[in-house]
Amino acid sequence: MILTEKETSVINDLMTQEKTCIEKYGKYSTYAKDTELKNLFSTLQEREQQHYNSLNQVLTGTVPSCDVNDSAGKNYNPTATYTIGKSNLEDKDNDCFLCTDAITTEKLVSSEYNSDVFAFRDTNIRKLLADIQVEEQNHAEMIYKYKTTNSMT
Ligand SMILES: [Fe+2]
Ligand SMILES: [Fe+2]
Repeated sequence: MILTEKETSVINDLMTQEKTCIEKYGKYSTYAKDTELKNLFSTLQEREQQHYNSLNQVLTGTVPSCDVNDSAGKNYNPTATYTIGKSNLEDKDNDCFLCTDAITTEKLVSSEYNSDVFAFRDTNIRKLLADIQVEEQNHAEMIYKYKTTNSMT
């Protein structure tokens, strides 16, 4: 599968975006105070790395098959760390800020995939990008669940 110049440039931009997500979650897992959140950010860092690898495969001529994983958000059930009355409010504020910022990023990334799908001729590439878009929404859902469980809304 040979990509057009435009398709190649779209994939490159998406890879830059994924690289930023990998770095962000790496940093945020160290900035987070709560271990549960540190682990969540580390998990998401690995998933962004998988996105990066998939895009890189497209660039080198193979389209990886997608798993259409739409259950990561549904299956994530964190336990509350910040319980009312006993919490370190400074830590909670810090972690809440990181969550809100990460959700904003996921929202932007997800909408980028939504529009980039339309730039491709190949059905399998379109499927892959749509699959990644759903996974970005799952990431946001997991972080949102963490927030609501910890009364951060
Ligand atoms: Fe991603
Ligand atoms: Fe993501």
